[in-house]
Amino acid sequence: MALILRPANAADARLLFDWRNDAVTRQNSLETGMVSWSEHQRWLGASLARQDRQLLIAEVDSEPVGTVRLDQGHNGCELSWTVAPGQRGRGLGKAIVAAAIALAGPGILIARIKRENAASLRIADACGFACVGSADDILTYRRG
Ligand SMILES: CC(C)(COP(=O)(O)OP(=O)(O)OC[C@H]1O[C@@H](n2cnc3c(N)ncnc32)[C@H](O)[C@@H]1OP(=O)(O)O)[C@@H](O)C(=O)NCCC(=O)NCCS
Repeated sequence: MALILRPANAADARLLFDWRNDAVTRQNSLETGMVSWSEHQRWLGASLARQDRQLLIAEVDSEPVGTVRLDQGHNGCELSWTVAPGQRGRGLGKAIVAAAIALAGPGILIARIKRENAASLRIADACGFACVGSADDILTYRRG
């Protein structure tokens, strides 16, 4: 499987909207509410313009299979990932996070993961993150 990460663009709006509003994505996200199309378009436009954010689409054989975001912050670079609903459970989440780590290069990486998100906890462990804190149902993982 040859997985690549490419920068997202405005033409990915519908795809990202559908993945963002998927029920399982929302359940596992820090923000669980549905977003409207107009909110999403505003968010995407602002995200694409931000210098401190890389919004990437993962593709296998030119098919979009997921997304990962890298946000530079004071305490490190925060990673956040989603696999397309129809593509889950076949190793893509782990492959996307590994590719994002390679792209990010050296430095501290952070991921905030809900305690009940077993698949993402396994991904974080497998990719060399360690749990460094928790608040309510959210665990903070750090790498580097
Ligand atoms: C969480 C998510 C990214 C996992 O991606 P995925 O491609 O389905 O995961 P993978 O196939 O790479 O599996 C990763 C590990 O989790 C395990 N796993 C997969 N689905 C699982 C599930 N539903 N319950 C428990 N473990 C699961 C796999 O067996 C694998 O473990 P292993 O390598 O030890 O065998 C994906 O389900 C998703 O996008 N969910 C909604 C959004 C989300 O949760 N984003 C992350 C926020 S931190």
